[in-house]
Amino acid sequence: MRAYDVILKKRNGHELSKEEIEFMVDGFVKGEVPDYQMAAFLMVIYFKHMNADERYNLTEIMARSGDSIDLSFISGIKVDKHSTGGVGDKTTLVLAPMVASCGLPVAKMSGRGLGHTGGTIDKLEAIPGFKTTLTEAEFKKNVKAHLIAVVGQTANLAPADKKIYALRDVTATVDEISLISSSIMSKKLAAGADAIVLDVKVGSGAFMKDIASATDLARAMVDIGKKHGKAMVALITDMDKPLGYTVGNAIEVEEAIDTLKGNGPTDLETLCVELGAQMLKLGKITESLSSAKEMLKDSIKSGNAIKKMKEMIESQGGNPSVVDDTSLLGVSKNTFELKAWKDGYVTSMDAEGIGIASMKLGAGREKKEDKIDLSVGIRLSKKTGDSVKMGETLCTLYYNSEEKLKAAIEVVKTSYNLSSVRPQKIGIIHGVVE
Ligand code: URA
Repeated sequence: MRAYDVILKKRNGHELSKEEIEFMVDGFVKGEVPDYQMAAFLMVIYFKHMNADERYNLTEIMARSGDSIDLSFISGIKVDKHSTGGVGDKTTLVLAPMVASCGLPVAKMSGRGLGHTGGTIDKLEAIPGFKTTLTEAEFKKNVKAHLIAVVGQTANLAPADKKIYALRDVTATVDEISLISSSIMSKKLAAGADAIVLDVKVGSGAFMKDIASATDLARAMVDIGKKHGKAMVALITDMDKPLGYTVGNAIEVEEAIDTLKGNGPTDLETLCVELGAQMLKLGKITESLSSAKEMLKDSIKSGNAIKKMKEMIESQGGNPSVVDDTSLLGVSKNTFELKAWKDGYVTSMDAEGIGIASMKLGAGREKKEDKIDLSVGIRLSKKTGDSVKMGETLCTLYYNSEEKLKAAIEVVKTSYNLSSVRPQKIGIIHGVVE
């Protein structure tokens, strides 16, 4: 077989066999297929796409390229959750303690942020002392004793995807449904859960900018998972504006803690209740979504969810007092308030722009090796749909460098569209794919 012929076959619009996809992926991992041919292969998939069988095969080939996590030490159904990535997305920080306090074990491997999207592991590291790396024995012990552990990816999960993603990132081939769905699902399959709830983001801060393509992505991932014998549900959720009112690391942990205490923003709490209900149902903790939602709301009202957060922090070496005193998280002291330049409404927001501005302040990485500043970020006072008066604060930038502040202000300003047009308020959930 020759890489040239596989690329040509796809270029001419034909379906690839499992052997042909395997030849390209395994060959690339082994260094036998060079970068330039793999780049051409990815670009041809970008334009010609893959059908359901091809996606299934690509996912399986990438999933078995590395380790598989064995979660059999947990009894019952193992449920995982995955977000396709957004701005201000601190969902796992809220959702994990909520569902664990309802009796569903959470054994979660999360990622770091890259580009305009944040990552759970960076956020957790804003908690003084919190260890995002545990030994396998510690991880298991915590899940058994506390029903919760959230750690960074230590195992060598789907290394083929890692290598291919790095090439996609520099060849403008990230945002294609076959490639995204197989990339995400290869890691989820290797992570060992029986059931997966997907949070597929749509809007200006997401990979998928419109509901039709987000639904196609959700359908592709649900189909791949089901064909691999997993129970699957995907929610299509709003990312046309940041989630909640904070974007950064320490500042997002603070908002997550407030939400677990019942004082969080409605969009974040609603999203966590909706995703959590799907998780509790798939995990057979309860039979109906409505009873699951009641359980989750009760976990906040009763204080069980915040207690679980404290327990998780303590069990992973962090200072549990941050729950009672969020100033211990160390949000930067320097602030700059961006004021509205006219009366009207926030007609729309470029959520990706807010994420990029936060990254420019130092809260995110442009390149994998960049070091981030956990104390900086952006607190929004106004979001899409809100009315504003000239001179009112739109958002507050937390910063440690004047130069970085200057670069961030430029981007934030253009991310707010103020006009006399009042947009329709839209909910956080746009659809469900089962
Ligand atoms: N997240 C992933 O893991 N892979 C993609 O392709 C896109 C988002």
